[in-house]
Parts: sequence; C-alpha cells; structure tokens
Amino acid sequence: MSLRFILPLALAVGLFAYAVMPVVNDMTLRWFVRDLDARSQMLASALQQPLLDYVPGKDQRKINQLFERSVQDGRLYALAFCSPDGRVLYRSASYPASLGCRATQPTLDMQQSLVDLPQGKVHVTESQLMQGTAVLGKLILVHDMSYIERRTAETRNYLIALFALLAVVISLITVFIAHLSWRGWISAVKSILHRDEPSPRGSSAPPEVQPLVGDLRALLHDMRVERRGEGVSSISWTPEKLRSLLHDELAGDQILVVSNREPYIHTRTPEGIEVRRPASGLVTAVEPVMRACSGTWIAHGAGSADRETVDANDHVAVPPKKPSYTLRRVWLSKEEEQGYYYGFANEGLWPLCHIAHVRPVFRTSDWEQYVAVNQRFADAVIAEAHGEDPVVLVQDYHFALLPRMVREKLPRATIIMFWHIPWPNPESFGICPWREEILEGLLGNTLLGFHTPFHCKNFLETVDRFLEARIEHEASTISYGGELTEVEPYPISIAWPEPFPLSVPECRASVRKELGLPDNHLLALGVDRLDYTKGIIERIQSVERVLELHPSLIGRFSLVQIAAPSRSSLDEYQNLESRVRALALRINKRFSSGSYEPIILKIHHYESEDVNRYYRGADVCLVTSLHDGMNLVAKEFIAARDDERGVLVLSQFTGAARELHEALIINPYHIEQGAEALYRALTMPEGEQRERIRSMRSLVRDFNVYRWAGRMLIDAARLRRRERVTARIHSQSRKPLRRVV
Ligand code: F6P
Repeated sequence: MSLRFILPLALAVGLFAYAVMPVVNDMTLRWFVRDLDARSQMLASALQQPLLDYVPGKDQRKINQLFERSVQDGRLYALAFCSPDGRVLYRSASYPASLGCRATQPTLDMQQSLVDLPQGKVHVTESQLMQGTAVLGKLILVHDMSYIERRTAETRNYLIALFALLAVVISLITVFIAHLSWRGWISAVKSILHRDEPSPRGSSAPPEVQPLVGDLRALLHDMRVERRGEGVSSISWTPEKLRSLLHDELAGDQILVVSNREPYIHTRTPEGIEVRRPASGLVTAVEPVMRACSGTWIAHGAGSADRETVDANDHVAVPPKKPSYTLRRVWLSKEEEQGYYYGFANEGLWPLCHIAHVRPVFRTSDWEQYVAVNQRFADAVIAEAHGEDPVVLVQDYHFALLPRMVREKLPRATIIMFWHIPWPNPESFGICPWREEILEGLLGNTLLGFHTPFHCKNFLETVDRFLEARIEHEASTISYGGELTEVEPYPISIAWPEPFPLSVPECRASVRKELGLPDNHLLALGVDRLDYTKGIIERIQSVERVLELHPSLIGRFSLVQIAAPSRSSLDEYQNLESRVRALALRINKRFSSGSYEPIILKIHHYESEDVNRYYRGADVCLVTSLHDGMNLVAKEFIAARDDERGVLVLSQFTGAARELHEALIINPYHIEQGAEALYRALTMPEGEQRERIRSMRSLVRDFNVYRWAGRMLIDAARLRRRERVTARIHSQSRKPLRRVV
C-alpha cells in the first residue's frame, strides 16, 4: 500500500483524536451530569418523608441508619443534612468534612454541581426539607464521579477504534473500486489505441472514457499522418524515387490518369502542326509525374490537329521529343464541350468553389451534358484498363461523377481523385441543385485529396450536411453505403527546374530589351490565366496606388502582366479581359511619358521557357488571387530564382500562403496594403531578399510535385493492400465485395 493511501488515513485519525474527541468528551460528561441531577432529585424526593419523620424529633440513630443504607448504592457517595443556619446536623460516615454545608446550586450549570476533592471529582446537589412553610434544613447528596470518567475514557477509546476501523474499511473499498475503474479505463483506452478502424458511433467505450475518445483518435490520426509525413519527408523526392516507389509499392499495377485538359495540344498553323503545353496548374503538376511513371493519360482532345496525330485507338505517345507515356484522347462535340466544360464546370462549379463574388450559373441542359461526358470518360477508363483493379488518378472538378461510374464497373479499382480548386463551406456548396449527386459521385473514390486541411474539413462538413453518411472527423474518413473514402490534404507543387540556359543577369537584360526598357528599370511580374479569381484588377489598382504614393517610381517601374487567355467564350471572362484592358489603358494614360508605360499587358500564351525567363528577369512577382486552391506561379517564381534574389508578394487567400511564410503576405482586396507591400518589395535590401527566398526555395525543393504524387500513391498502396485483404476475406466468406469500413 502506498503512502498516498496511508498518509490521508493517519491524518483523518489524528484529526479525529485531537479535534473531535474533546468535543465528544464534553458532550458525554454533560449527559452524565444531567443524569446525576435527575437521579439526585429522585433520591431527595424519596428521602423527604423519612427525614420529615426523623428530623423534628432529632432521631439521630434513625437518620444515621437511613443515610448509611442509602450510601450503600455504589454511586451515591455521601449524604448530609444541614440546619437552615448552615451547620452539619447529620451526615453519613463517607461525607467529606471539607464540603461542610457549602451552598451548591442544583442547576443545569454543570460546573457548579461538580467539586474536586482529594479523592476525586464528585457531583453535589442539595434539596431543601420543608414542613409547611417552615424550612427544616437542607439535604446534601454527593455522587461519585469516578465511574463516569472511566466510562468516558472507555467510550472515547471505543470511538477511536471504531473510527479507525471504518476509515480503513472505507479506504480499502475506495482503493478496490478505483482499481477496478482504472483497469476498465485502461482497457477501454487500449482498445481505442489498438483499433485499426474507427468504430461506429456510440462505440463500446465506457461512459467515463467517451469524452476522451474523440481526442484520442484525433491524436492518433495526427500521429499517423505525422509518421507517414516523417517517412515521406525524409525521402528526397525525385522522378527516379517516384519510379522506384511505384515499382515497390504498386509493382505491375496499371496507372491511368483522367483530366479534362490534355498535357499536349496539337494545333494546325499556317506553318504546319505545332505542339504546345497549355497554361494549367494541373498539367504543370501531373505531367512530370506521368513522365516518371508512364501509364496512360485520358484527356479531352481539344486541339485543331489532335485527331490527325493519334493512332487508331486515339493514342499518341508523349512528350513529343522523348515519349514516355501514352495520351488517350476523348472527342467531344461542340454541344458536349459547351454544356459540360463551359457550362456546368466553369459557369457552375468554378464560381461555386471560388469565393470571388461571381454568381454560379446552373442549367439543366449543362448538367445533362456533364453527366453524359463523365460517363464517356468513365467508359474510356474502363476500356483502357487492362485488369480489374487499375490505379485511377482522377483530376479536378470536371469529373465529380466519374469515380462512382468507374467504381460500378471496376469495384476493385483504386480510385484517387485530386480536387485542384478550393472546396467551399456547406452553405456555399448547398446552392448547387445537384449537390447530392456530386457528393455521391465523389464518394466513389478510395482516396480524395485537397490542397489544404481546411478544404478537407469543408468537404467533410458538406457531406455531413447533405448525405446520410458516417463521418469520422478524426480519421478523416467517410463511410457511405458501406463503402469507405479517405479524405486527405496533399498540397500540390512543381517539379524542381533544371538549370536555366541563361543566367539571371542575361534574363534581366533580355526581358528589358524585349520590352524596350532601360537595364535598371524595376519590374514586377504577374503570370496567370486570364481569370477573375486571380485578382488581376486589384493587382493593377495596387500599381496605380503605389505610383500615387511614391511618384519617384514613375518612369522607373512597370508591371508586366502575362495573362494566358482562358475560357474566352464565356461572358464573365470576356468582361474581365475588357476591364483589364480598360484599366491598364487608363493608368498608362495617367502616368505614361514618352515610351514609358507602368502597365505592360501581354494577353497571350507564353511557353514555359519564356515564362521562366521573365521570372528570372523580374524584381518582384505579384500573386494576388482572390481565392486559389494552391497557385503554382508562386512556387515556380521561387524555384526559378537560383540567384536568391527577388521578392514574392502573395495573397493570403491562396493555398501557397500556408507554406510560403516568408513571402510578403497581403489581402488583395485591400489596395493600399497591396501598394505598400509592392513598395516594400521594390525597396527590400538584398540581404533580406536572400534570407526570405532561400528559406522558401528549400521548402519548394523538398516539397516538390514528386512528393505530392508520392504521398498520394503511398496512401493508395496502403488502401489497396487493405482492400486486397478485405477482398480475400469476402471471397472466402463468399459475400459480395464492397469497400467496407
Ligand atoms: O488550377 C485549377 C485549374 O482548374 C486546373 O485544374 C486547370 O487545368 C486550370 O485551372 C486551367 O483551366 P482550364 O483547363 O479550364 O484551362
């Protein structure tokens, strides 16, 4: 037994002995004295009559006999009878002479009736003897108190013993119960820690553990993610590493990628057929992965010469200069492209998921095309699959329904989807008329990835709001119709670039020469698709403001805005282009002098080599998106600056802002703040530039796109192994196969 048990027990007994016992003693003494008072009164009444008979006749002998007989009662110690003037007339032999006829008051005041004598404490009472109205004298009764002290001591000892015994018994019972609860608690916690899968709601954990279940699971999930992350971050991610990972983890498994945008577009020009890479974050990220792992990429063949460059199976080997994987093109009619791509995907889902204050448009005809085209692509996946369980990597919001469509035909496929744009909160998503269908389609995935934990949380909450699904927030899984989908954040990135053929000073000179600017001209750079989510208007307004606030920059500084035309048949995009052009024109008029223009608009497509040359030639890169899943321009700029110079101004509403903390982070809606950040960037000392960009470069180098793909594929391999085990168990029990929880 530990001190923790003995010490409180000893304290309780000590407290009882030294604080409680005197009170108990005092109380028992009062009871006994009251008892003796009553007894004395009774005795006095009983002696009244004999004394009335003997006292007037002064019958000494009879009185003595009466007194001696009375004191034979062990408790009555002595008796005396005093005259009214205070002389002892008669007394028993035991009556202490020292008491004499002293007046005592037979009152309730205990102190007054108790007298200390050499032989011990005695209780003294007196009672008057009356004959008619005449006082004959008073009878004094003396009771022995020694037996009372004996009894009090006995009672005290008994109480102490009883209390100690009670304390021991209660303590033992408490220890026993605590031990039992502790064991129950520990085994409940153990079962939570050892359980592989999250248990159903209302699990068997005892009620006292219930408040901890959520926290424990969240902790476990974090630890698992961290452990996975640690393993993954200790790897130096390269194409070779990704290839060997695919070989180790998914040996011989077929990889199929599905996206709307194709990685290479063949276009007919007067000079012949040209191949070009589209301006697309998705292509930037997925293409290096496909180069590393081969496989087949299924995408919409949108180029004017695409049909001429495929074989009989609609296949073309890419990249054109060094083929390493297959591009399978899917053909869409004008109506299909209009309804599915321009309509539902880009007038509906795109503004729905981006908070850029452009209203989504939903039309039934667009939705019908979206369903039909998703089915067309799902059929293409099924046709390209060599076996029953390929690994299918579905890209983006164009294919929300495809995962379930593929799942229906290939129940054993591992379907991983990455949603390249933000996922809004349930209220925002809830305005989509086909919200349930979209969510059900997405829950056909084995694994669903978003850029940030915040988007994952929004998705889980959206499913919770609109579907009857079981959600384990801590494990980040959704069980719907008996099937499980894991939802995880995978921040996308870029491939670390090869050394650029031109040095930074050469790029600076080349860019300025191309723009007809002097060598020391300060340049800020924007590179985007011409899209209303990118904050291009706000960026240009910040440039105007910086020139107002710092007129010394006029003539010495310009913004080069490269804007690749995008979705140009949509009104919203045409309006944006007109507004951007008009704003640039107005500002240029206001500040231009000679050939100087503060806003240099380049609204056309630039190949990646040219974009890189501009990244290296600029002083500042402006990324001012109003809302952006990640924004790879920010990472590309950082990666391009091997001179460790240049400043990144970055919107707080991008996924990139969660990783690139050393950028100058701004709220793009706040024009003055943007202008101040721009000025600070243009005047930042070189030492500070180096320090900031060095730290960001090391992050982007390590957290590159191979890591993004590698993490998803490692998770897919883990889920795939689990599914194979589940499939074996089901085949043994001859039950139909489901991706069960
Ligand atoms: O970055 C988001 C994204 O939708 C990508 O997924 C897409 O490839 C890119 O924007 C370009 O859009 P689009 O393919 O419509 O030109």
